[in-house]
Amino acid sequence: MRFQNRVVLITGSAAGIGAGCAQVFLDEGARVISLDRDQTALEKWLESLVPAQREQVWPIVCDVANTAQLQNAIQSGIQSFGRLDCLINNAGIHPPALTIAETSLELVEQVMRVNFIATFAASQAVVEELKKTRGTIINISSMTAVLGQENSTAYAASKGAQVSFTKSLALELARYGVRVNAILPSNVDTPLMRTWAASLPDPEAALDRVARLQPLGRMATPDEIGKIALFLATEDSSFLTGQAIEADGGAALDY
Ligand SMILES: NC(=O)c1ccc[n+]([C@@H]2O[C@H](COP(=O)([O-])OP(=O)(O)OC[C@H]3O[C@@H](n4cnc5c(N)ncnc54)[C@H](O)[C@@H]3O)[C@@H](O)[C@H]2O)c1
Repeated sequence: MRFQNRVVLITGSAAGIGAGCAQVFLDEGARVISLDRDQTALEKWLESLVPAQREQVWPIVCDVANTAQLQNAIQSGIQSFGRLDCLINNAGIHPPALTIAETSLELVEQVMRVNFIATFAASQAVVEELKKTRGTIINISSMTAVLGQENSTAYAASKGAQVSFTKSLALELARYGVRVNAILPSNVDTPLMRTWAASLPDPEAALDRVARLQPLGRMATPDEIGKIALFLATEDSSFLTGQAIEADGGAALDY
C-alpha cells in the first residue's frame, strides 16, 4: 500500500491511461481526485470500481481546456481530501492525420490548450500544495515528442512542449523537494488508439501494424503506464527528476 493516506489528482481519468493510473494508485491505497470532461464516461468508470475504492474517488466533471474550470476543480478536490501528493497531467487529444497545409491554426491552438497549456495551468495551481508534501508532478507526454510523427505536427509539438516544461519545472522545484518527470509512451491500447484505428479502412490491420512497431510485439496496457507513474510518484524514484521516461517497448531501438 505505497500510496496509503496520500492523494493523487489525475486529469482525463475516466478512460485509457488515466483510468489505468487511477486503478494502480487505488490498489496502493490512494485517494484519487478524478477530473474528466466526459460525465458519462466518468460515471461508467466509477461504477466499474469495487465499492470500497469508489469511496476513495472524488470525481469532478471538468474540461481542462477551460482554465477557470480547471483551477476551480483543483481547488475543490484539494479541499475535499485536504492534501495533494501527486498531479498526473494526462488528459490529451490527438487530431486525425493532417499535413501542415491542412492543419488550421485554430486546431493548433486547441491541441496546445488541452495537451500543453492545461499541463502548465494545473501544475501552476498545485505547486504550493506539493511543496507542503514534497510531492511530484508526472506529465504524460509521448514518444512523438522525440521521434516526431508524420502528419501530426501540432500533436507532436504539444508533447514536445510537455517535455521541455518538465525539465525546466524540475529545475525550479528541486530546492523544495518537488520532483517533476514525464512518461513518453509509444502505443497504448486505449479508446484513443481504438478510435484512431476505426477511422482507417482496415482497423484490425492498423492495430496489428501498431503492435509490431514495438520489438516486444504489442502495445502497452494502461496499467503498465500506471505502474511507471506509481514508481515516479513514490520514494522508489527519489533521485529522479526532470526525466523523460521512454515507455516504448523498445520501439526506438535498432535504428
Ligand atoms: N494511447 C496511446 O497510444 C498514447 C501514446 C502516447 C501518449 N498518449 C497520451 O496519453 C494521454 C491519454 O491518452 P489515452 O490514449 O488514454 O486517451 P483516451 O482518449 O483513451 O482517454 C483520454 C481521457 O481524457 C479525457 N479528456 C480528453 N480531453 C479532455 C479535456 N479537455 N478535459 C478533460 N478530460 C479530457 C477523455 O474524456 C478520456 O476519458 C494523452 O495525453 C495522450 O496524448 C497516448
